[in-house]
Amino acid sequence: MAVMAPTARGAIAATSLAMPSADHAMVRGDGAWPEESAEQAVAWEDGVITYVGPADGLADVEPEWFEGCTIAPGFVDCHTHLPFAGWRADEFEARLSGVSYRELHGEGGIYRSARMLAEANDDEVLAFSRSLVQEMAEHGTTALELKTGYGLSVEAELRQARLARRLAQEAPQTCSVTLLACHAVPEGMQRADWVRTVCDELIPAAANEGLVDAVDVYVEDIAFTVDDLAEVARSASEAGLPLHCHADQLGPSGAAEAAVALGARSADHLNHVSATGIAALGGAPGTVAVLLPTSTLFLGSSPPDARGLLDAGAAVAIASDFNPGTSPVVSMPQVIATACSLYGLRPLEALAAATVNAAAALGLAGRGTLAPGRPADLVVLDGDAFRMVPYRPGHNPVVRTFVDGERVGGR
Ligand code: NIG
Ligand code: FE
Repeated sequence: MAVMAPTARGAIAATSLAMPSADHAMVRGDGAWPEESAEQAVAWEDGVITYVGPADGLADVEPEWFEGCTIAPGFVDCHTHLPFAGWRADEFEARLSGVSYRELHGEGGIYRSARMLAEANDDEVLAFSRSLVQEMAEHGTTALELKTGYGLSVEAELRQARLARRLAQEAPQTCSVTLLACHAVPEGMQRADWVRTVCDELIPAAANEGLVDAVDVYVEDIAFTVDDLAEVARSASEAGLPLHCHADQLGPSGAAEAAVALGARSADHLNHVSATGIAALGGAPGTVAVLLPTSTLFLGSSPPDARGLLDAGAAVAIASDFNPGTSPVVSMPQVIATACSLYGLRPLEALAAATVNAAAALGLAGRGTLAPGRPADLVVLDGDAFRMVPYRPGHNPVVRTFVDGERVGGR
């Protein structure tokens, strides 16, 4: 006789519920921005939402009640540099004494993280990264990106991609893996030779092994050019992989508009995006403008024109950029708080940016909002309105984190 697996059911209710409309794949221009309503419940079965609506409308189940709390979709951290192996706090201290990020690039920076990754064995990298992924779950992250970019040789990039895939399989969250082989030019190599190797060998090899879900390029004067981006875009497209781009972070390069023209899924950072780049992102059907406010805060960079991007109609997402050099921040509540205070996002704009728009940047259709039939990825936050999250930077508001209906974090 076949044994039926028990049905996993859950139901919660709280003082408030804040979420983007489920009718849109992303929020842009005039909205529709997320809305908040009082005394709402969410129920699910086998990881899939079955009910979202008034708490007193739930028929056959008694929800767990969270007084004074807010339910929201789980946060999607669509730009991180995990897995890595080790911190660079001494570089942070050196920057505070006047050394620039550009000056550290070589002895320190990306090259140093590449050396630390090479020196750590697989178990050490996974143990280090796993605890950080769990810390993210405790801060409400229900889906995230993992990236390579600290390999800097064909073999080392493939190793980092395999480690990312293993971490993705083990992690309680949904993870998407991105190949950022064009993050720095390997020592002793010419830029053009590395770009050719990446396009001809690395991208096809990573795709054949099913190791990565997307490709990224760091366009910057210390890294790669807009022409390199176009070359990588061609190879990624032949491998059937979507494109992301680190664009206009330390200086203007025209990367944002190039990313839009190449049909990239996202253009990220954008601190120095031009008026042309803003207009391009405003009209881009599928390129999300991913802003990384904690790296701006940490580097003391000038903030991007976030309001200009929103007014132009861009789909704006926010993410942690979690990495040991420019943003050692795992907390999406902290990212939301920084986006509001430093970039001027309103709380519910930040919520859309951290959920449905970030899910679109990762191609995770269906995640980032709450509706029957969608995955039960949600958080319970300890304030009675979503604005309490950006209002209290430094506080972890997360009382519960659920991924596919399973409790993966909280207190
Ligand atoms: O997104 N800008 C390039 N990459 C990272 C930093 C990487 C590092 O410093 O290790 C970023 O900020
Ligand atoms: Fe980054």
